[in-house]
Amino acid sequence: MKVSVIGLGKLGSPLAAVMASRGHEVVGLDLHQRFVDDINAGRAPVPEPQLQELIDKSRDRLRATSDWQDAVNNSDITFIIVPTPSDAKGVFVNTFVLDAVEKLGAAIRAKSGYHVVVITSTVMPGSTGGVIRQRLEAASGRTVGADLGLCYNPEFIALGTVVRDMLYPDVILIGQSDERAGSYLEEVYKTSAMNDPAVQRMNFINAELVKISVNTYVTTKISYANMISEICGQLPGADVDVVTAALGKDTRIGSKYLKGATGYGGPCFPRDNVALSVFARSLGVSPDVAEATDRVNRRQFDRLAGLALSHIGGARRVGIVGLSYKPGTPVIEESQAIYLARTLIDRGVQVYLYDPLALDNAMAALPQAVRAESLEHCVRSSDAVVIMTGEPEYKSIRPEWLNRGSDDAVVVIDTWRVLPRDTFDGVATLVYPGFGQEQGAGVAARASAVAAE
Ligand SMILES: NC(=O)c1ccc[n+]([C@@H]2O[C@H](COP(=O)([O-])OP(=O)(O)OC[C@H]3O[C@@H](n4cnc5c(N)ncnc54)[C@H](O)[C@@H]3O)[C@@H](O)[C@H]2O)c1
Repeated sequence: MKVSVIGLGKLGSPLAAVMASRGHEVVGLDLHQRFVDDINAGRAPVPEPQLQELIDKSRDRLRATSDWQDAVNNSDITFIIVPTPSDAKGVFVNTFVLDAVEKLGAAIRAKSGYHVVVITSTVMPGSTGGVIRQRLEAASGRTVGADLGLCYNPEFIALGTVVRDMLYPDVILIGQSDERAGSYLEEVYKTSAMNDPAVQRMNFINAELVKISVNTYVTTKISYANMISEICGQLPGADVDVVTAALGKDTRIGSKYLKGATGYGGPCFPRDNVALSVFARSLGVSPDVAEATDRVNRRQFDRLAGLALSHIGGARRVGIVGLSYKPGTPVIEESQAIYLARTLIDRGVQVYLYDPLALDNAMAALPQAVRAESLEHCVRSSDAVVIMTGEPEYKSIRPEWLNRGSDDAVVVIDTWRVLPRDTFDGVATLVYPGFGQEQGAGVAARASAVAAE
């Protein structure tokens, strides 16, 4: 099939490459010439695992253009994957989507034959069947349904595994204007997915609601695990990993995203939760669960900063290892590690930073920090170390990197429990959040007093 993709960013370029690698003829378009040039030169415009490989193997079916007519004339279906930033209240703004829809509509006006427009950007419920449909019809001079199809089709992907998530989706969610448009889009996915995913077809409003509800549900699990972690941290003998592992064995709950560690961050989770809350309130519904999830998440920033400050003592140099909002990505948006680094820098601590992918972004955000040239450099240079993501590379931290030859063991706060405690006995004190002794002495007395009441 002939596919065009508008917006070649973190989501759009993997989608274009995945579609091309599965045999579709794909033309991408972006406002930024660099993204267009990258695709045409066979370079991945964004860092994402497996993206370059897919581009390499699909060069003859993948190209990019800045010409909207070229993109429309050479495709039968167009995916719009442009940003929908949040406004001050947390509502997703459609400005970029509407700009794309109008340019696309004008190009469709000058083309004959059926065309399907697919909104993949995350939008507020009501947008696709409302303002997006109106602008598309006005710009194209066509009515949605006859020779123009419209779908809402968000992707359920995570940065770092975008290609894999697109090749092996759990579910394809299609909000459709009509049967023909939905079937056309389903056909595209049937040939692009490597598995046989469930396909859920519905109207726009249901699909829009599913998209933000999925992320909100997942974040609720994360905040739940972090709340259990906070309780375990105050309870001698408690171990959050033991508790959540047992909880996760219950098939009604499941183990995914049920680990007490840092809070969630990144470009999607925090804002989807807030958007659902704002949307519910606009309908007169009190979004207690979504708001509590967000509150628990926000307090993880201060919890980790407090934990670090209470354990690092007089350490003047602190290494922060893991700076992105999660492993496998350079993205630092809403990263708890960046917040922690800022808090320590504000208190006069010299902060060394290390991350295999996110170091450039982190140094741009924190120019006062010291750039560590390697994981070993970061660990060896620091009087205390905080590990902020579960990046597999951090398992290679060696006890000798922490041996300072004095009686004082170096404190390592290991938020994701990357390092095994016994290997570091004698050279480092490993602090795991959510493990009974989080805030030190006094807790045992408080816990037993409550139990006695
Ligand atoms: N990144 C994620 O993890 C993720 C996950 C799920 C959903 N989404 C949603 O997908 C959408 C895109 O996100 P992203 O992370 O790929 O954004 P991005 O900023 O990485 O990429 C967007 C691209 O669109 C281009 N663009 C902007 N306006 C345009 C226009 N009018 N015409 C053509 N190109 C235009 C930009 O130049 C940019 O290259 C957003 O709505 C986001 O919420 C993102």
